[in-house]
Amino acid sequence: KQPLTITKLKKMKQSGEPISVLTAYDYPSARLAEEAGIDVILVGDSLGNVVLGYDSTIPVTLDDMVYHSRAAARGAQHTFIVTDLPFMTYRLGNETTLRNAARLMQEGHAHAVKMEGGADIAGEIAACVRAGIPVMGHIGLTPQSVHQLGGYKVQGKLPKEAQQLIDDAKALEAAGAFAIVVELVTEQLAEAISKSLTIPTIGIGAGRGCDGQVLVYHDILQYASPYRQKRFVKTYADLGATVRNAIGEYVADVKSRAFPQQEHAFESELEPLKHVYG
Ligand code: KIV
Ligand code: NA
Repeated sequence: KQPLTITKLKKMKQSGEPISVLTAYDYPSARLAEEAGIDVILVGDSLGNVVLGYDSTIPVTLDDMVYHSRAAARGAQHTFIVTDLPFMTYRLGNETTLRNAARLMQEGHAHAVKMEGGADIAGEIAACVRAGIPVMGHIGLTPQSVHQLGGYKVQGKLPKEAQQLIDDAKALEAAGAFAIVVELVTEQLAEAISKSLTIPTIGIGAGRGCDGQVLVYHDILQYASPYRQKRFVKTYADLGATVRNAIGEYVADVKSRAFPQQEHAFESELEPLKHVYG
């Protein structure tokens, strides 16, 4: 099976088939997402929060993204993989952006890159697209700007801000982006943005009107994500409890010598060794 293409993703919007996206950050998470039938894997810089334990995505480096992207790509060789350019690895000019995006593809084995921003980064996106690097946009609540935005809050509530986000989305489409993540905006605005574009929108905390949805692996599985569960997340399992209980049982077994048993051990068949060890 071949990974999806950006052409297929645009066709899915036209035919009204929702696009399923999940983050993954390493071999097992990507492999399980692929086996479950996910359309697109996003190696998000949210790994700064959920894998590395930082309190924002700002400390995440390009090397971190390359390392995790490459591991995820090994686990999901038949799935379209998009990898985030982290904080300040773009916006410094086309040449830097191209070089860094190229690393995510050549070393991180991504099929496409994602960057946060609107009309202000349209030039850099267009440069990537000209160079053969597909780009996914990301507007609304853009976590790399959390300190400028004054926290993680719903964006585009005022008419002026809403118009700005619609203009940004159109600028990204015009620059050649193949899809746009729309994060933490009202359902009405996300739907308006989706209707004004021919490329798909992928929503997170953006309601029912987007062309696809994305959530964070550790959030939907309750796998020890470091923050309080968010309203827009639906949880599908409690891996945190499962893993904690399982490890607890292991610890108890070692302490009580219930593990290991004979079936876990190797026996010598050589007489001399039997002699040596009694
Ligand atoms: O880093 C990430 O996980 C993301 C998604 C939440 C869109 O950018
Ligand atoms: Na991200």
